[in-house]
Amino acid sequence: MLAIFGGNPVIANKELHGHYPPIGISERQRISAVLDSGILWGPWAPMTRELEQKWAERTGVSHCAALNSGTAALHCALAGCGVKVGDEVIVPAYSFIATASAVLMVGAIPIFVDIQPETGNINPDLVEAAITDKTKAIVTVHLHGLPADMEQLRAIAQRHQLYLIEDCAQAHGAIYQGKAVGSLSDVGAFSLNATKVLAGPEGGLLTTNSDAIFNRAAKMRVFGTEWHEGKQIVRDADSLGYNYRTNELMAAFALARLESLDSEQEIRISNAQHLINGIKDLPGVSVPPLQVEDRNHIFQMIRVRVNAKILGLKLSSEELRERIVFALAAEGANWWIWERKPLPAYSIFQSLNADGDGYPWCLPQARKNISYHPGNYPVSLATSRDSIFTTAHFPPNTANLMELYVEAFHKVWANLDAVSKLPILLNENGIQKPF
Ligand SMILES: Cc1ncc(COP(=O)(O)O)c(C=O)c1O
Repeated sequence: MLAIFGGNPVIANKELHGHYPPIGISERQRISAVLDSGILWGPWAPMTRELEQKWAERTGVSHCAALNSGTAALHCALAGCGVKVGDEVIVPAYSFIATASAVLMVGAIPIFVDIQPETGNINPDLVEAAITDKTKAIVTVHLHGLPADMEQLRAIAQRHQLYLIEDCAQAHGAIYQGKAVGSLSDVGAFSLNATKVLAGPEGGLLTTNSDAIFNRAAKMRVFGTEWHEGKQIVRDADSLGYNYRTNELMAAFALARLESLDSEQEIRISNAQHLINGIKDLPGVSVPPLQVEDRNHIFQMIRVRVNAKILGLKLSSEELRERIVFALAAEGANWWIWERKPLPAYSIFQSLNADGDGYPWCLPQARKNISYHPGNYPVSLATSRDSIFTTAHFPPNTANLMELYVEAFHKVWANLDAVSKLPILLNENGIQKPF
């Protein structure tokens, strides 16, 4: 019997799930070394510099700037490309909100483009139609760790003389045609928050081969002031800057995590493949491509789409996935729902005519020309309604746990009729109220 109806859960022992990010000897030693040194902060402090140098080397770029978040890295990347008030920036309609809000931060207007159904990445075939004489840049996201179609996107950017920016928040170490993400465009922005495969447990990294983009970003990180080797050059600010500095404790933690990135990546990918292979043939299930010829998927998350129609059930896929997540949770398997709506459906874009708090000062310019109707992005809309996610494949979790995840999935699938009748209420934000 399903655990949600009182049966025994497949994963009764909660200890089988390890803590992420793992905190081992290396993390403790690095943090102790910072405390012993007494140097706790500063963009030119030793651990911060070491992190920048190592990440630049690994990514294959000439410059890396460490920042205090991935959002800060995106903001600096856009400003570094000279994106300004009134410019338009093309972004995927399905991503984390920061991909779009960073565009608002420079006073520019996000123009959303739908994603590809299989990969979840921006659909290059739709990009060109979204370009206007105001377009300044394209931001692509390597969603959940699968690199986007960079060759096509680069060709479009070149043809229209646009900047191309990679949001690499979910794709550390992913490779496309032999090169690391973050080196495939004008500038890359990585997040180091605790959920990421390289956890800081907060922070960001900006990567670029452009001196001009790097210099602007580096200034913006410290109030628009210019520094060299830890010394302020002139006590003046010639551009708008912020405090986007990271600190030594975060850099030290990220450096320790970087030591394990490759070995953990192997386990993460093999766990993901194990789990996906175990469930991919179930009816009504579709999974992202395990491998695309010229790129690797590092599986920042596993996304599985469920289709109630194919299963012959009388509820929507959105209603079904809520029930599946509850049933799986009762079995001890952690699946959850990531984005419940595409980015253009977020209130900030829907309230184009509103005037309240949180109303972005640049959007009035969008009012006349831009429709943020979610129906314009059918693949993003469907994906946001029928996908469930897990990061249970992250080490220290093991292949044995993946086996149990597969078992839990099969158990729920064998009882889908009963699961589909679970009395769950959804409110307008999609928050579930069980029973
Ligand atoms: C695709 C994407 N972009 C940007 C961000 C923002 O990164 P951070 O949380 O470090 O600001 C995230 C992370 O949450 C993300 O997943």
